[in-house]
Amino acid sequence: MRFLNLLLISFLASCSLSNNEPHFEKNLTLKSITDNNKTIGVSVLSEQLFSNNNYQSFINSEFSGITPENAMKMETINPTKGMYNFRDADEIVRWAESNKKVIRGHPIIWHRQVPSYLKNLDNNQLKEIFESHILTIVKRYQNSVFIWDIVNEAINSDGTLRKSIWLKHLGPDYIKDAFILAHHANPKAKLFYNDYDLTMPGPKFDSAYELIKDLLKKKIPIHGIGLQMHLRPEFKQSEEGLRLVIQKFSELGLEIHLTEIDIAIPTPSSLNDREEQARTFQFIGSVCNQFPSCTSLSLWGLNDTVSWIPSHFKGLGEATLLDGNMNKKSTYYEFLKGLESRN
Ligand code: G3I
Repeated sequence: MRFLNLLLISFLASCSLSNNEPHFEKNLTLKSITDNNKTIGVSVLSEQLFSNNNYQSFINSEFSGITPENAMKMETINPTKGMYNFRDADEIVRWAESNKKVIRGHPIIWHRQVPSYLKNLDNNQLKEIFESHILTIVKRYQNSVFIWDIVNEAINSDGTLRKSIWLKHLGPDYIKDAFILAHHANPKAKLFYNDYDLTMPGPKFDSAYELIKDLLKKKIPIHGIGLQMHLRPEFKQSEEGLRLVIQKFSELGLEIHLTEIDIAIPTPSSLNDREEQARTFQFIGSVCNQFPSCTSLSLWGLNDTVSWIPSHFKGLGEATLLDGNMNKKSTYYEFLKGLESRN
């Protein structure tokens, strides 16, 4: 059966690589082909989810998990002191629960999109906000969200700690304290450190590895690592590098989530770049399959139009599995092939 699936997927992929519409499609979906012990997810934009039926039904049929792309960010959910705006996040959580999707809460403590009212606080005032934010959000969704990106992107590319508002006012212990508080708010939740450019060996990987090893040694409740995969011409991914990184973090006993997967290429794209991109999507799926500890893969942006890439990187795009008209690209079929492979 698997061989037949692989044959079919390869055929479909070859059709779509040369931009020919595949003549037929079996009702294979990303979630039907993914192992039961793994979640296949995608980031969701509330403005799309509740206004675009095509967007919503594609997510419903193809994915078993979702991540609110922006709705839970502090600037959005807690824009002014003591005031919370839960509307979008609540709507996404309600939709996900009624459609049986695993929800990845994202992010709790991050250096970006922090509300402006934090800027003029002293250390004690900021510590108060830090603690109440973590407790308020994690507690609110304690019966719906059991996976959280508690600390997001705390490490620089050279391996030093990012000089965020949290580090400046609270010192390096903010990372440890965030996990302790989140665990207190929801002891049933799995708590992740989530960061980008960790999927190749280097100073950032070394620093994250040592940081988490130290937290584990101190019995801090951290359960997994979110390996963001925002791949782009200046951060190309090798299959060996991904395998090595997953192996190393798995040896710490962590759950591995491949998060925020998108592969930005120069646009308008060349066939060469599309082929390399499709191959990378394929091995991302197949390498995760080689590790029982790799329990989740999440795409970032459902299609090339809603993807964050074009508005943040001039000249890059086409980073997702679907084109702007929601047509499956070769990246979709190669990713499907990777999720299907068991070698
Ligand atoms: O909500 C405002 C809207 O009121 C305003 O009219 C509009 C135009 O300025 O901006 C809107 O805010 C935008 C926000 O997305 C919501 O759409 C911000 O400008 C824009 O910068 C923000 O981009 C998001 C980015 O994080 C920064 O938060 C992207 O959509 C999102 O894909 C991206 O995702 C992050 C992950 O959360 C963490 N890992 C890195 C990843 C990429 O940066």
